[in-house]
Amino acid sequence: MKKLGVAVCAVAMLGGAVFAQGSAESAGGAKVVQNKDKPLVFFNRQPSDPTTGAIDMTSMNWNDKTFYVGFDAAGGGAVQGQLIVDYLASADLAKLDRNGDGKIGYVLCIGDVGHNDSKARTEGIRKALGTWNGSTDPGVAKEGSVKVGGKAVAVVELEGKAMTGTDGSTWNANAATDAMSGWATKFGDQIDLVVSNNDGMAMGCLQASNYPAGVPIFGYDANADAIEAIGAGKLTGTVSQNVDAQATATLQVLRNLIDGLTGADVVKKGITEPDQYGNKISAEMEYRADTKALLAHNTGVNASNWQNYKAGSRDAGIKQSSAPKKKVLLTIYNSADNFLSSSYLPALKYYAPLLNLDMTVVQGDGQNEASCLDKFTNLQGFDAFAINMVKTNSGADYLDKLKY
Ligand code: BGC
Repeated sequence: MKKLGVAVCAVAMLGGAVFAQGSAESAGGAKVVQNKDKPLVFFNRQPSDPTTGAIDMTSMNWNDKTFYVGFDAAGGGAVQGQLIVDYLASADLAKLDRNGDGKIGYVLCIGDVGHNDSKARTEGIRKALGTWNGSTDPGVAKEGSVKVGGKAVAVVELEGKAMTGTDGSTWNANAATDAMSGWATKFGDQIDLVVSNNDGMAMGCLQASNYPAGVPIFGYDANADAIEAIGAGKLTGTVSQNVDAQATATLQVLRNLIDGLTGADVVKKGITEPDQYGNKISAEMEYRADTKALLAHNTGVNASNWQNYKAGSRDAGIKQSSAPKKKVLLTIYNSADNFLSSSYLPALKYYAPLLNLDMTVVQGDGQNEASCLDKFTNLQGFDAFAINMVKTNSGADYLDKLKY
């Protein structure tokens, strides 16, 4: 191992100026960019500490072509909380409080205790309902209070549970079906409200054969089936994290970097202003320089506006570009994740050809990093990378493979 390190170092020194610019001459004379100098976007799972949520800036500062594309997680938690509070404000207490005990009892599906999207939603929900007790962990909640039809009513989190599948995967919809079934038996008509960190788990709850009919239920993501369920009166509300804006931005940032853009242009061109091909994402996005994060905005969806979120509408601001064709390798942490497979991946597949990016997608099993990492190979054959990690603190494992 040691010997190899010395050899690589020596070659790098010999390469001098050529290596310093991140490229070398191939035998044929064409410039070869080293993997360590290629564009890299982390998306959907922000490199961070699973316990504290602190952003992993070592990974984010890997090179000056490293960025994160996601959405405003904390803002989204607040949007979900507000959506629930607004619903309760105009609800009929006599109907809502099923056992008439003067308390609103709710159960909470937690996606992944180590993922900051999930943490932010648990926090947003608990803060809105007054049950926040300083931690996003399951079970750490206090009695809250909320206005129902103008009257302050006590709120109790009957149980909050991380939905981990039997295979160890997180955000698991089947685990939510089982949990809901158990909760309906255990708590009966104490359950007045069901809240979930995502739509997949909310739809999973609705699958439970003993789901208490008519009990309001909220999810997150605005997946196509969830939007239809709102239209059908089964799901009460969800939050759109604007998957089209995120998928396009993931690809647009890579496109900009491949095209040699630098500085502010990387996160502006095609995003807040048209790029050289005339493309621009229609939705507003925000760039946070301190974490190198480009974020989409969240919007609440319920019975009053669900029709605006029906599947199939794509961003007309993105048209076929004349950019040179380039190759991107993209990982997805779990092929069974409902949001990524039913919303994010179809959007990526729609926009990549428009941006002339030839995208190779490799998918993991949602529990072992190796399921993704082992397919993160032949790196020299790609011009750029987009990474969705199984664990949010695995950034270093991918960067290690990009070292040379
Ligand atoms: C989505 C979840 C999804 C997770 C995967 C979140 O932003 O809301 O539905 O399971 O990303 O990382």
